[in-house]
Amino acid sequence: MRIPSRGLSRAEVTRALEGAREADWPWREGKLFAYTFAAGEEIEEVGKAAYMAYLTENGLDPTTFPSLRTFENEVVDMARRHLGGDERVVGNFTSGGTESILLAVKTARDHARATRPHVKTPKMLVPETAHAAFHKAAHYLGVEAVITRVSPETFRADVADIASKLDDDVVLVVASACSYAHGVVDPVREIAAVAAARGVLCHVDGCMGAFLLPYFRRLGADVPDFDFSVPGVTSMSMDLHKYGLCPKGASVVLYRDESLRRHQIFACSAWTGYTMVNTTVQSSKSGGPLAAAWAVLQFIGEDGYLRIAKDLLEARDQLVAGVRAIAGLRVMGSPDMSLVAFTSDDLGVFHLVDALKVRGWGVQAQLGSGPSRANIHMTINPGNTRWIGPFLEALAEAAAEVRALPAAAPPREMADELSRMIDADTTGEGLIRMLEALGVGSGTAPTRMADMNALMNELGPEVREKLLVAFVGRMFTPPAG
Ligand SMILES: Cc1ncc(COP(=O)(O)O)c(C=O)c1O
Repeated sequence: MRIPSRGLSRAEVTRALEGAREADWPWREGKLFAYTFAAGEEIEEVGKAAYMAYLTENGLDPTTFPSLRTFENEVVDMARRHLGGDERVVGNFTSGGTESILLAVKTARDHARATRPHVKTPKMLVPETAHAAFHKAAHYLGVEAVITRVSPETFRADVADIASKLDDDVVLVVASACSYAHGVVDPVREIAAVAAARGVLCHVDGCMGAFLLPYFRRLGADVPDFDFSVPGVTSMSMDLHKYGLCPKGASVVLYRDESLRRHQIFACSAWTGYTMVNTTVQSSKSGGPLAAAWAVLQFIGEDGYLRIAKDLLEARDQLVAGVRAIAGLRVMGSPDMSLVAFTSDDLGVFHLVDALKVRGWGVQAQLGSGPSRANIHMTINPGNTRWIGPFLEALAEAAAEVRALPAAAPPREMADELSRMIDADTTGEGLIRMLEALGVGSGTAPTRMADMNALMNELGPEVREKLLVAFVGRMFTPPAG
């Protein structure tokens, strides 16, 4: 496509935009258990109106737009009070969980550069279940991610393993509240204590859980300690565009005090342009997400979030009990949050994902990794809560259908052959041919993913990563001609 030689009318543009949605998942129905957090029409409208009102204001310069500075300080204040922080806790609004995590890791690295100059190869301890964003941060920032074990039964980080790997080069220890894959909270109190005993920083990734867990606790759920009330927790990330129900991208990164946060801020006046000082990775940025987050927090309020949390907690309990009641399915660990993973010893979980998709339900396939075998993940959002009963009926039916199918398990030799091929494939041509054979055409993704998932599940992480890069490169190739 070229830029049109003559501009289209507004009506034509709108029609084209609406038409483009046709193949998208109709997530507002509430049958997709991932990617979206359906807040309901009214909340969505409040967020949209605030977003549009500040769409064109630029967060680059807090002196030109003091409105944005005020919103940011107030959002951070709401966040720190929500997470047991006192008035020394400071932080910033970011575009999402990944940006908050990148900033927390950069801060830890630069804090170590300033205070522990003997550290030449900074490392961070990352439990196997911590979000991939920590690996991305390690990759971008030149910090080595040292992987620590989790319990194969509870999927919570193993404190003894963390303690044994805490050497002089470690600049940060990571804990999750909660982990994405299994929805469990790590033993933050113990992890922060071993880190503090060595004078090492401890980041709690609350991107998924930190907003909702305080409400679960108030409703009587047994929630382990995870926030700034725990000694030794030095920074936290918490997304507002997940269970805060704010439009994307909205997250906060918080630090115990300014002496730590100052390592996050980047200033540059060694060039010919304006004096640049940024708190975040982004420099110019729309004021829309921030204004929308401020507005949604004000609009829903504690009473509203508590009501939503109650529905989510009940839905989680109903889902966990319902999955446990289906023969052959097993819930992994004991989820603290409204995120649930389940697996099976005798049913092909990848076929199950496809069988549910055919029935109109969206769940996520998670590949086996370390102690976590291949499984199905569901993040319950407020739009899903009324559907748990019908979902469980569909799941039982899909399980009965899949029981009759042979497991989608490619022969080991095929996975070995593929690994060899990928290693030897310098041009990427072989990979492309293979992806085509698996049904991945340019710009499209296959509908049934069981074979692809099963094959991926057999491969080692490095081979998987190469394949994923080729797969996504193939998906993001503009059509020829
Ligand atoms: C625990 C956890 N941390 C970090 C992230 C990354 O957040 P984002 O996708 O907003 O970058 C996620 C996303 O699901 C998450 O679950």
